[in-house]
Amino acid sequence: MADDIYRHKILILDFGSQYTQLIARRVRENQVYCEIHPFNLSFEKIQAFAPEGIILSGGPSSIYDKEAPFADKRVLDMGIPILGICYGMQYVTHALGGVVAKAIDREYGNASITILDDSDLFHGFDKSIEETVWMSHGDRINHIPEGFSVIAKSKNSPVAAMADSRKRIFGVQFHPEVAHTPNGHQILKNYLFRICGCEPSWTMASFAKQTIKELREKLGNDRVICGLSGGVDSSVVAVLLNEAIGDRLSCIFVDNGLLRKGESRQVMETFADHYRMDVHLVDASDIFLKKLEGVTDPEKKRKIIGHEFISVFEKKARELGKARYLAQGTLYPDVIESVSFKGPSATIKSHHNVGGLPEKMNLELVEPLRELFKDEVRQVGVELGLPRELVMRQPFPGPGLSVRILGEITHERLEILRAADYILIEEIRKADLYEKVWQSFAVLLPVKTVGVMGDERTYENVIAVRVVDSLDAMTADWSKIPYDVMSSISNRIINNVRGVNRVVYDISSKPPSTIEWE
Ligand code: XMP
Repeated sequence: MADDIYRHKILILDFGSQYTQLIARRVRENQVYCEIHPFNLSFEKIQAFAPEGIILSGGPSSIYDKEAPFADKRVLDMGIPILGICYGMQYVTHALGGVVAKAIDREYGNASITILDDSDLFHGFDKSIEETVWMSHGDRINHIPEGFSVIAKSKNSPVAAMADSRKRIFGVQFHPEVAHTPNGHQILKNYLFRICGCEPSWTMASFAKQTIKELREKLGNDRVICGLSGGVDSSVVAVLLNEAIGDRLSCIFVDNGLLRKGESRQVMETFADHYRMDVHLVDASDIFLKKLEGVTDPEKKRKIIGHEFISVFEKKARELGKARYLAQGTLYPDVIESVSFKGPSATIKSHHNVGGLPEKMNLELVEPLRELFKDEVRQVGVELGLPRELVMRQPFPGPGLSVRILGEITHERLEILRAADYILIEEIRKADLYEKVWQSFAVLLPVKTVGVMGDERTYENVIAVRVVDSLDAMTADWSKIPYDVMSSISNRIINNVRGVNRVVYDISSKPPSTIEWE
């Protein structure tokens, strides 16, 4: 790692809070690099990381649980500023000899705190005004450790925040990282800049520049293969590599016959024509559709597509000749997931990627986006001049339209879904909702319903419209888009797509439903 953009960094020790990633995103929004590690990261590794500050996250445990997570206590003696949030604060209290006890009432939701002291953490806050914060805790601090003072209180938390200003250890019972704490960003800013003395150097322009330089050094004269999908991540990887090594990069774009209308043309126009990259389009639609004939089971569809993808990709890669590396768009949330102390979450749907390929072909992985969150990847895309339409693209599943056609996949059904989805996206864009919602798409149902057109009775297909709001796809809510938008979507689909006589709107949230229908 070169040292400019990583010069000042924050270490976040994760005690299992659902908000830990949010803390990291907030820190990075302030242009300070940070990493999340499990709470039990070894002291040696913490020293080697050499952070400017350490944030101890919240977590679901009580400090008195048998299995309560404890960090290495020496962290508190390093002279590095500490910010404990919720459980993190309780851990600090417990470790330094204070007393944590069960609160009489669990405090959950908005609360008002009164700031009592001019600590650096609340610099710039008006003490005469109560601050709204977001609380979510069962335990509370009854006695602060020696050397600390109470710097804020709330009705249910006599210690809503505490500080040892000499040692620069701070604790807040509430969550400054969530949007429900309106001035939480100022508290985090105070911590990062006033208390830790960080300088804002983590920008996506400098990330792009530095990464291109590092890739050039690392990859030398070796060849790299990159799978392009038309999605944001693989596009940004490809353009970064193109900048770094130019024609030593070969991209493979597999058309599996399950793409949306105009998608493969768009990808070729962007990368082959505009960027003049070495892109190989493999039209494998016949092979995929043949293998999917008669298949209706969602998991079977995914397995077939995953398997076929690897086989097509591998064949093409071998044809292209000797490469040493395979580039992948792994993002930071995937990295955290695999090191998180909770362990990787249960696989609900088998996701399709190039799993197994690097070993089989003896390729080394290059993952230039490993340190980035999705919004940062988009920003890098902007810096590299990718078209906004591509950079702001909604997620699209690897198995493509196959998981949006319930029942059997046929050419005819694909055409119906493509036409309906195209109209839907046009209407969503027209209403300026495309970048506001998480995903919007059409699903073709395996039922037919009766309708009437003119004097004719019809018996045709149903399209379900799915539009969801979400932050990370882990949870999602159906989007309350205006009725007139729903109305134009429905009218245009029914009037223009042959074979559809009914449109319904999906009003299920995740959980218990999922975003995709299969
Ligand atoms: P679900 O349906 O599980 O989807 O709520 C969560 C997010 O993942 C996307 N998704 C997939 N992406 N391969 C992918 O690359 C898949 O098999 C797959 N299945 C779902 C989905 O579009 C949503 O954004």
